[in-house]
Amino acid sequence: MQPVEVIENSNQINAAFSKQSLHYDTDDLQNPLLQAMRLQVYNHVSKFISKPCRILELNAGTGIDALYFVQRGHTVHATDLSHGMIERIKQKVIHTPLQDRLTFQQLPYDQLDKLQGQKFDLIFSNFGGLNCIDDLSKVTNSFSGILNPSGYVTCVIMPPVSVWEILSVFKGSKNAFRRFKKNGVIAHLEGKHFRIWYHSLRSIRKAFGKDFRLVHHEGLAALSPPPHATGFLAKHPALYKVLMRADAALRNYFPFNRWADHIVVSFQLVS
Ligand SMILES: C[S@@+](CC[C@H](N)C(=O)[O-])C[C@H]1O[C@@H](n2cnc3c(N)ncnc32)[C@H](O)[C@@H]1O
Repeated sequence: MQPVEVIENSNQINAAFSKQSLHYDTDDLQNPLLQAMRLQVYNHVSKFISKPCRILELNAGTGIDALYFVQRGHTVHATDLSHGMIERIKQKVIHTPLQDRLTFQQLPYDQLDKLQGQKFDLIFSNFGGLNCIDDLSKVTNSFSGILNPSGYVTCVIMPPVSVWEILSVFKGSKNAFRRFKKNGVIAHLEGKHFRIWYHSLRSIRKAFGKDFRLVHHEGLAALSPPPHATGFLAKHPALYKVLMRADAALRNYFPFNRWADHIVVSFQLVS
């Protein structure tokens, strides 16, 4: 049995994201910073999935990435804890030819044992869904059982150090050092409160253990503004371009491949 606190956090997450699901796609499309980040994630993943493959998507949200992959010939099983998010995916694919290659299931990622018997070439988790769990090994423990030999996992996770967020101290931000808190942080979304945790590259590697080798990791919005800073882009478009170029040059190197708004981390199953 799960402790009451965990169930309560899950209920709050479900309620918050289900409410957000109603305007999630509109917000996403209207945010050029987020669009640039998604593109970087797609470029990262394309290194591992050249031929059509079977993808398990964790915390899939409204299925934006699932649709992207399906439209490129892959097959996706999209899962999420939030009933609202899963409903949005259903509305997008039901009664369309896509429903053969994009399936969906309301499933928290710490219950992946329910997928035993199925095999995937890639497990994919985008944009901080995995920050909603304290201990990543509760999720990664199931990966080797549902991956094909030499299969890949790509996770996009918020790490504890974000240069942009730390520098916001000079603008009087109260959030400048929130990521360093040991017991996580209370997130506020759609009038709901739930706890999230920031995961360092080191703790991510530890959670994957010896069955996996780290193949690549890079920073997302290491120096350029994070998705909520659309005001910065509007005020300083030229500086934004410079920062994007700096990101492109530095994101694969220490420390910008681990100090960023999010990091994209990929592993391959070795045993
Ligand atoms: C910021 S959204 C990202 C959604 C999507 N990956 C994207 O890129 O648009 C985070 C998602 O994580 C999901 N989530 C949070 N905790 C979860 C859990 N324990 N199991 C599965 N999904 C979860 C939420 O419901 C939400 O849809």
